[in-house]
Amino acid sequence: MNIEQLKKIAAEKATEEIREAMVVGLGTGSTVYYALLKIGEMVRDGLNIIGIPTSSSTEKIATEQGIPLSTVAAHPIIELTIDGADEVDAHLNLIKGGGAALVREKIIANASRRILIVVDESKVSRGLGTSFALPVEIVQFGWEATKRVVDQICGQSELRGGIQKPLITDNGNYILDCHFDEIPEPEKVELQLNNIPGVVENGIFVNRADKIIIGTPSGIRYLE
Ligand code: A5P
Repeated sequence: MNIEQLKKIAAEKATEEIREAMVVGLGTGSTVYYALLKIGEMVRDGLNIIGIPTSSSTEKIATEQGIPLSTVAAHPIIELTIDGADEVDAHLNLIKGGGAALVREKIIANASRRILIVVDESKVSRGLGTSFALPVEIVQFGWEATKRVVDQICGQSELRGGIQKPLITDNGNYILDCHFDEIPEPEKVELQLNNIPGVVENGIFVNRADKIIIGTPSGIRYLE
C-alpha cells in the first residue's frame, strides 16, 4: 500500500463512528480529505449530520461534497471531531498545523466531546518535535520581535513562506515553524509559547485526542 492508501484506510475507519444527527468537527489536511469524501458519500446515501469545518479549504471541499455545514458559534458542543496530525507520540500528544489551520483546529478540539486523529504510520514519532517543526501562529504586527522571543524557547524558527511571500492563515496571521531537537515537556512548552505577546496559538495538542487511528500496510492500528 502506498501512503495515500494508508491515509484513506485510517480516514475511512474514523467515519464509521459517525451517527445520524451528529454534529461533526471536520479537520484539515490530506488525510482528512478522504474522510470528507466518505462523509459526502454517506450524506448522499441519506445520512443527516452537521459538519463544522476547521478551515476555508475544508469548508470548500465539504461544500463540494454536499455536507451540510454550520459554525461552532451555532453548535458550541461538537459530538465527534475527525482531524489529522503531523506528529503523534505514544501518549497521544500531537503536533498540528502543517496545513496552517491550527487555531481553528484547537478551537474546534476544545468544543469537541470526542476527537479521532487519523494518520498514516509515518506520523508516529518517538518524541514530539523530533520529525516535524512546531507551527506557531503569530500576528503580523511586530512579528520579528515575536520571533526573537519564540526563538529563545525553540532555538530556531522560520517564517513560513519566507519574508518575500509569507503564508497568511485563514485568520490573517503568519506562521513560524519552530525547530526543536525534541519538545521535552509538551504541556509546559504549549503554555510558554502562548504566553508570548504576539503568539496567537501553537500546534501542540496535549490530552486532547481520544483515539489515534493509524493506517499501516498490515491494516489499522490504534493508540487510545
Ligand atoms: C492542519 O493545520 C494540520 O493540523 C493537519 O491536520 C495536519 O497537518 C495533517 O495534515 P495531513 O493529513 O495533510 O498530513
